[in-house]
Amino acid sequence: MSRPTWLEIDTAALQHNLKRVRTYAPHSAVLAMIKANAYGHGLKETAEALNDAEALGVACLQEALQLRAAGIKQTIVLMEGFFTADELLAIGENDLDVVIHHPRQLEILANQPPTKPIAIWLKIDTGMHRLGFLPQEVDQVWQHLITLPWLKGKPKLLSHFSDPDRLEKSSTLAQFKCFNDCNKNFSDQRSLANSAAIIAWPETHFEWVRPGIMLYGVSPFADREGADFGLEPVMTLHSQLMAVKQLQKGETIGYGGTWACPENMPVGVVAIGYGDGYPRHAVNGTPVLVNDHKVPLVGRVSMDMLTVDLRTQPNAKIGDSVILWGKGLPVEKIARNADTIGYDLLCKITNRVTRKKR
Ligand SMILES: Cc1ncc(COP(=O)(O)O)c(C=O)c1O
Repeated sequence: MSRPTWLEIDTAALQHNLKRVRTYAPHSAVLAMIKANAYGHGLKETAEALNDAEALGVACLQEALQLRAAGIKQTIVLMEGFFTADELLAIGENDLDVVIHHPRQLEILANQPPTKPIAIWLKIDTGMHRLGFLPQEVDQVWQHLITLPWLKGKPKLLSHFSDPDRLEKSSTLAQFKCFNDCNKNFSDQRSLANSAAIIAWPETHFEWVRPGIMLYGVSPFADREGADFGLEPVMTLHSQLMAVKQLQKGETIGYGGTWACPENMPVGVVAIGYGDGYPRHAVNGTPVLVNDHKVPLVGRVSMDMLTVDLRTQPNAKIGDSVILWGKGLPVEKIARNADTIGYDLLCKITNRVTRKKR
């Protein structure tokens, strides 16, 4: 028998969530963000399930090549463009779209013009201050790009919001206005909205939306859950009880002895830990599902195990099912208990956790 710790990926939920995106943004094409191994869900499987999306967004060439090698034919956009000149050949050969965000990339393109047509997305920094040309540079860069003989089609324009999940902040509208102001005369293919903006800022949808976290069934808003927006969780993290112990009042559990039993009680040991990607900083009381019943995490999470209070489940036994997040237990809840965000937890599941497609 092998270690009973596994990840269930529900591809029907992915397809359902893509439909939810289309309900929120009925007039926009979808550039589905599947970077970082599709937020931990598996690049190839996710791309296959999202074959209805008009394009797929990855961070780098390596991810795009994995998709092409798996036979994925959709448009693939390198969201960070290329890093070095030697990537250009593979970009052309594999028909990948690139984001151009920095003068350094223009220099590389001038010194080593691509030999095959390449489609470009021109990124504007409207206030995130991470990647992109400044609004006042866009005109000049655009005029330069459209003269390039290898350019495939007209460039598309994109920008990225810094706080679309904070509805009280005016920066989203300022970024929207800035994007509008600089693209007026150029492209009719524009993209600004990620998940939070798809849900909360319909005026920002333009021709292309870029959903990430909502495709995986998770809320982009810290105080809400995916179900609030009709989304279904795609990833469910499963394990089992590998030991059940009766401890005495006052006995402590795990490293540092940070939790002491308030009475004589049963404690369950679950076969999962931070070596699998469960957050080490999850606090006492973080919910865990044992046989579909919520019980609290107690004691420190260790590398391969964690411990739960079984007082409300006195009949629980070795081999009983445990869910750490996913169906029946939103990952957003665990994230709040571990002082992080759902994105972070989804991306961090390690390779030793077996993956099963549903
Ligand atoms: C440029 C860009 N667009 C879209 C997204 C998707 O964002 P979200 O997962 O919040 O929908 C990301 C994610 O980080 C991104 O970097």
